Amino acid sequence: CGIVGYIGNLDSKEILLKGLEKLEYRGYDSAGIAVMNEEGVHVFKEKGRIADLREGVNTDVFASAGIGHTRWATHGVPSKENSHPHQSTSTRFTLVHNGVIENYDLLKREYLTGVEFKSETDTEVIVQMIELFVGEGLHVEEAFRKTLKLLHGSYALGLLDEQDRETIYVAKNKSPLLVGLGDEFNVVASDAMAMLQVTNQYVELMDKEIVIVKKDFVTIKNLNGDVIKRDPYTAELDMSDIEKGTYPHYMLKEIDEQPPVMRKIIQRYQDDQGELTIDQPILDAMNASDRIYIIAAGTSYHAGLVGKQFIEKMAKIPVEVHISSEFVYNMPMLSEKPLFIFISQSGETADSRAVLVEVKEMGHKAITITNVPGSTLSREANYTLLLHAGPEIAVASTKAYTAQLAVLSILAAVTGKSRGHELNFNLVQELGIVANAMEVLCDEKEEFERIAREFLSTTRNAFFIGRSLDFYVGLEGALKLKEISYIQAEGFAGGELKHGTIALIEEGTPVIALSTQEYVNLSIRGNVKEVVARGANPCIISMEGLNSEGDSFVIPEVNPILTPLIAVIPLQLISYYAALHRDCDVDKPRNLAKSVTVE
Ligand code: G6P
Repeated sequence: CGIVGYIGNLDSKEILLKGLEKLEYRGYDSAGIAVMNEEGVHVFKEKGRIADLREGVNTDVFASAGIGHTRWATHGVPSKENSHPHQSTSTRFTLVHNGVIENYDLLKREYLTGVEFKSETDTEVIVQMIELFVGEGLHVEEAFRKTLKLLHGSYALGLLDEQDRETIYVAKNKSPLLVGLGDEFNVVASDAMAMLQVTNQYVELMDKEIVIVKKDFVTIKNLNGDVIKRDPYTAELDMSDIEKGTYPHYMLKEIDEQPPVMRKIIQRYQDDQGELTIDQPILDAMNASDRIYIIAAGTSYHAGLVGKQFIEKMAKIPVEVHISSEFVYNMPMLSEKPLFIFISQSGETADSRAVLVEVKEMGHKAITITNVPGSTLSREANYTLLLHAGPEIAVASTKAYTAQLAVLSILAAVTGKSRGHELNFNLVQELGIVANAMEVLCDEKEEFERIAREFLSTTRNAFFIGRSLDFYVGLEGALKLKEISYIQAEGFAGGELKHGTIALIEEGTPVIALSTQEYVNLSIRGNVKEVVARGANPCIISMEGLNSEGDSFVIPEVNPILTPLIAVIPLQLISYYAALHRDCDVDKPRNLAKSVTVE
């Protein structure tokens, strides 16, 4: 979910709606705004997208203070009732919330028996508690702080009090929230992107802080009411980074951005002599560890699987890769000197953060590899390596994945060198070749459109197979396809499909096979024959030099260990066109959100 707020002299509706549009990547099941003027608080909410909400907003209302919310449903189905803002019984208080309150049911039973609830949400409990404490005689700010002290869980909150049109109260714990500063106005937002339209000056908030936001000043306090001073920073974002421009979808724009992102990464990780470099404290941490634990979710997990190969082969340190949501409850036996690497595009994934909190408590060190400077995982880890990929807005991750691979390869190579394991190739040069190969692939869109049409326009399911590195790329290819086209897709190790899943192969089932590794080329082609014998429709994507007649597509040759960086591009583009052919919403696939800030 994402939240926004504005207080100033202008009409807040359009600023809030525009802000929410920029936050739609955080969820788009339903949305709402509440604006406040001399007549009171006006709430508009709607199931669906911001565009649906926009239609229902009464344009005659002028109000220069307001809050807004776009939702990814956790407690309660996506519906108008469950969408935010939520109001207290008297409607004096109006609240938007991003996060999950774990003890809401307990609080409801302890404090709010007799209160009639309008929704099934944990959020309504918060706003009712504030009303309760104000009713008991507390000032709003005190009631807010008292309520917050009782909450267990995560929140970014925006609160309006109908009796005080000069103030928005906000608070944060675990969920991201920023305050933006302007001339005679101030704003709040889950992400600077939302309010870049009006300001690039932001103040970061820490957990368990509240902010009293007025038109011409903001006051940050802790939950005991002590004032905290913090300087603003300038958001290094450009409006053009977050606009689609001439592209029909963000996903296509972001796929095309991969070659320049590659070049930027090479440049950002080079020293004055042109050598790849990683900050010494990070290298020291790598070298001090006897085993690295990579923790990630979704696409970032898939990048971690490839990263393990890079680190083990180039730096010769053993690596385990874990899905973050499993790790906390099912922690493996740790080595004596573990080092944790968190991979997260957004730097906000709650599942990953839960692991970070836990391992930090255990006294272990952590590196975060993220695209978002200042994100929660970046702030809370000991070290950060940035992806420099620019904002990724499409829900399906593309350029962040290849950026993660590039940064992991650099980390692995530089660590290896510091341990006396020089590569027998020049990584700067090889990554440059990768960038060029990516460009070639991005120019072949018609081919991928054709492949998508031929193999995926009507199918119910699809399988991806590959061996060694290609297996991991296949997992990512399958995830891309299912995320955006809703085709049931699975990735398998080439040798594994026959141990069960081959039962699903029917006449015409597409099997997309990757072959970029010489030492497994013959075996993967053998696996293709097995599925073809059962009726599968094979689509072989091979690397130049390993190609055979009849392959559906041949990708340019790059260094064998770096093939995942380019083999994924055909899969991204095929998924994109498959989704288009099937009339799916490419950038905002159903049920998903880009940044999942709940566990
Ligand atoms: C969400 C997104 C996925 C993403 C995953 C991890 O589920 O829909 O595309 O891979 O989160 O996100 P992160 O920001 O931690 O890389």
